[in-house]
Amino acid sequence: MSIKQIRLFGDPILTTRAQEVTSFDKELRNLIKDLEDTMLDAPGVGLAAPQLGVSLRVFTYIVDSDEPGHLVNPVLDLSEEIQDGEEGCLSVPGLLYDTKRSLQVIAKGLNMHGEPVTISGTDLLSRCIQHETDHLDGIVFIDRLDTSTRKLAMKALRETEWFGQVQPQFKISPHNTQGLAL
Ligand code: NI
Repeated sequence: MSIKQIRLFGDPILTTRAQEVTSFDKELRNLIKDLEDTMLDAPGVGLAAPQLGVSLRVFTYIVDSDEPGHLVNPVLDLSEEIQDGEEGCLSVPGLLYDTKRSLQVIAKGLNMHGEPVTISGTDLLSRCIQHETDHLDGIVFIDRLDTSTRKLAMKALRETEWFGQVQPQFKISPHNTQGLAL
């Protein structure tokens, strides 16, 4: 499969709730491979299908492992305990903000064969799973920022060269996000 163009903040697919996956076929396996290839190339630690223009509930991730993982139709059980730390997004290139997330998550869903899987994560893995599941619900991490930080983020966004372009004509350049791009 191949490396695809990543949709940028402002693209309506990123604010649209993605559809449940119902077909566990070759098309889904190809989509997961595209997500993995594009995520590893970026590089990022997670990527959700809407970021590649596909409105389906599936994402890939690579945290604390040499091999990427994926999850289809995730349902999350979140801890009340909160973590705060820097977060970024491949659809919001170059911008990082402290974002509060649950410290721990138990994510239930399916693998590419439609078999049930459970992922238990803490710290960055937990942050990643929450961030990617948000993408499936049409939520970008900017939406999770506190009011004053969100204002700063929106100002910074408006000053980027790519913001507001309906169809960016360039490939996103690699950017250093300390491995936190999701
Ligand atoms: Ni993201």
